[in-house]
Amino acid sequence: MGVNVVDHPLAKSLLASLRDRSTPPPLFRLLAKRLALLLCMEATRRVPLVQIEVETPLAKTTGARIAQPLVAVPVLRAGLSMLEAVTELFPDVTVGYVGLERDHATFEPSMYYSKLPALEGRAALLLDPMLATGGSAAAACSALEKAGAESVTLLSVVSAPEGIAKLQRLHPSVNIFTVSVDEGLDEHAYIIPGLGDFGDRLFGTP
Ligand code: PRP
Ligand code: URA
Repeated sequence: MGVNVVDHPLAKSLLASLRDRSTPPPLFRLLAKRLALLLCMEATRRVPLVQIEVETPLAKTTGARIAQPLVAVPVLRAGLSMLEAVTELFPDVTVGYVGLERDHATFEPSMYYSKLPALEGRAALLLDPMLATGGSAAAACSALEKAGAESVTLLSVVSAPEGIAKLQRLHPSVNIFTVSVDEGLDEHAYIIPGLGDFGDRLFGTP
């Protein structure tokens, strides 16, 4: 479906610090979580509600609660940085995991792990901070759709136009929420200007 750029001033400021090559892993993790909170708030703006009765100390009134628990699926490894934000905002969320790794030469993803909860008729939030060629996100969307997800919303911190185009071509119903659409990819399929290798910076690996 659409690409939604979350251009809140706080998101822009957090992203600038996240991009900074001198940002160490502990701060990188904090910034990533805060960006995930902002993305999650925007991406869930239209989740269905049911009306409930509430009794305040003074009167009866009506309120709302979320109709059905969401399903969050972080893509290992980098998507793990976004999970805590979602579980804090939506404690009833059920969580699945998809492990995907890009081949350094072909940039093709291979799936090395998948553990998904029941997805029939459920709305899934796919968590992966980097949308580069789009291969990983497309593979993850295929897995979620095959498992019966009613809708898939991708939360990505930084996206490349190439990845957006690929995802829209292969999975036109997927909604994308991102903080930035960057210039494009370099010859190693890294996002420019991007922020480097998200997983490595998150976990302090070389
Ligand atoms: C990164 C990132 C995405 C993928 C994006 O994962 O977290 O999953 O690359 O690239 P693509 O759009 O070209 O597929 P990576 O394969 O580096 O694994 P890691 O998170 O375990 O480091
Ligand atoms: N994966 C990353 O971590 N960074 C990129 O720029 C592209 C893919």
